[in-house]
Amino acid sequence: MNDALPLVIANLKANKTWDEVSTWLENVGPGAAGFSGTVVFCPSFPYLVSSSQKIKDLNLKLELGAQDVSMFEQGAYTGEVAASQIADLCRYVIIGHSERRQNFRETEEILSKKVKNSKKAGLEPIFCIQGEETPIPEGVEIVAYEPIFAIGSGNADDPQNARKVAQTVKNNKNITVIYGGSVSAKNVNSFLKKDILDGVLVATNSLDPQDFIKILEATA
Ligand code: PGA
Repeated sequence: MNDALPLVIANLKANKTWDEVSTWLENVGPGAAGFSGTVVFCPSFPYLVSSSQKIKDLNLKLELGAQDVSMFEQGAYTGEVAASQIADLCRYVIIGHSERRQNFRETEEILSKKVKNSKKAGLEPIFCIQGEETPIPEGVEIVAYEPIFAIGSGNADDPQNARKVAQTVKNNKNITVIYGGSVSAKNVNSFLKKDILDGVLVATNSLDPQDFIKILEATA
């Protein structure tokens, strides 16, 4: 990936209405202005268009990402959103989050198709793995290591272990590896120091703009 590191991703999951998303952008936008890395904002699908417009209008230093993508290309797939449609608005797309694997039974085969379609459309997949053993599809350049026990629990992984996983994934390959799971302003630096992990994926502590700005500030 070509964007500046660290990569800090805000995954809002299925939270917030447009008014709240709009307020988030107005607050985090100025907070992200002095940040030297890359901030990727991932709201729900309905808010990608208006978020993209607002980011342009206010000239914010934020990239946009989708939280998921269809395994199908454009066609007769009611309710789906194709990679080529997302690519009109976003640079990034999260693929293989454990919540999608668990709640929507997404298999490695499905996830590989999502990665393939996303790459073809020019999107940068952020591929989530739950551990070293999770297969990583061909072409993935950004991997998010997110151990399930750490997601939304307030119980982050041991940074040393997260770095070990990152090193195994990198294994001489040019892959950006970030960590996700109960990241906060208090612990973010313990993950980013030593330059092995390249960023963080934040959900719970991205919901409140002030908490998220504190995370950005703590990485400086
Ligand atoms: P959390 O979630 O920050 O709430 O732990 C991380 C994630 O699900 O990506």
